[in-house]
Amino acid sequence: MANDSQKRALIVGASRGLGLGLVETFLARGWQVTATERRPSQGLAALNSAALRVETADIDDDAGVASLHDRLGPERYDLIFVVAGVATQAHDPVHAVSREVAAQVYLTNAVSPIRFLEAFRDRLAPGGSLAVMSSILGSVALNETGGWETYRASKAALNTLARSFAVRHRAESPSVLILHPGWVRTEMGGAEADIDVETSVAGLADVIAAQLGRPGVQYLDYRGDTLAW
Ligand SMILES: NC(=O)c1ccc[n+]([C@@H]2O[C@H](COP(=O)([O-])OP(=O)(O)OC[C@H]3O[C@@H](n4cnc5c(N)ncnc54)[C@H](OP(=O)(O)O)[C@@H]3O)[C@@H](O)[C@H]2O)c1
Repeated sequence: MANDSQKRALIVGASRGLGLGLVETFLARGWQVTATERRPSQGLAALNSAALRVETADIDDDAGVASLHDRLGPERYDLIFVVAGVATQAHDPVHAVSREVAAQVYLTNAVSPIRFLEAFRDRLAPGGSLAVMSSILGSVALNETGGWETYRASKAALNTLARSFAVRHRAESPSVLILHPGWVRTEMGGAEADIDVETSVAGLADVIAAQLGRPGVQYLDYRGDTLAW
C-alpha cells in the first residue's frame, strides 16, 4: 500500500525501452507505480516490486482503455505518462508508405495518447502532471534534415493535439508535459543512438519532478531544455 506522502505514477507503454526504464527509475525514487503492457513482459515481471502494479492496455483499443479506467478504480496519480509509440516504416518517405500504415502511425502516436489522457484526466491528483512522449522530430521548426516523415508528422500532430487538449481544459489549468527523451538506444532508437536508457530516464524523471503541477504546456527535452515548436 502507498503511504500518503508517496507519489504515484501511471506509466503507459512500459513493457520495454523507455517506458520500462521510467518504471524502474520512479520505483527507485520511492514512487508507487502502475505500469501497463500489451502482453506479459519479461522486463516488468523481473522488477518484482511491492510498489509496482502491472496492468494490460493497448492505447489503440478504446474499450480496453475504458476497462483499465474501471479496473484501477478511484486511485489518483501525480503523473500520468503515455510513453507508448511506434515508428513503423519510419525510414520510408511518405509516398512509399501505404495509407494504412501512415494512418496507423498517426493514430497510435498522436490520437491514442490524447484519447488516453482524456479518459484518465479525472484520475490526476491535484498538483500532478499529464505527460506524453513526443520527440524532437515532432518539431516543425527544427526539421532541417528531413527523414522519418510519417513518424515526424505523427509527433508534430501529437504536439498540436496536446496543446489543444490543454486549451480545451484550460479552466482546470492542467499541467501538460510534452517530452523528448533524447536519441536513445532502444529497439526504436537503435544501437547507434546517442545515449542509453538510464541517462534518458534519469533526466526525464528530474524534469518531471521540477515541472510537476506547473500549469500550462511545456515542450522539453530530457535535460530540461525547451524545444522550438
Ligand atoms: N528511442 C528514441 O530515441 C526515441 C526518441 C524520441 C522519442 N521516442 C519515443 O519514446 C517512446 C518510447 O520509445 P522506445 O524507444 O522505448 O521504443 P520501443 O523500445 O520500441 O518501445 C515502444 C513501447 O511502446 C509500446 N507500444 C507500442 N504501441 C502500443 C500500443 N498501441 N499500446 C500500448 N503500448 C504500445 C510497446 O509495447 P510492446 O512491447 O507491446 O510492443 C513498447 O513498450 C515512443 O513514443 C517513441 O516515439 C523514442
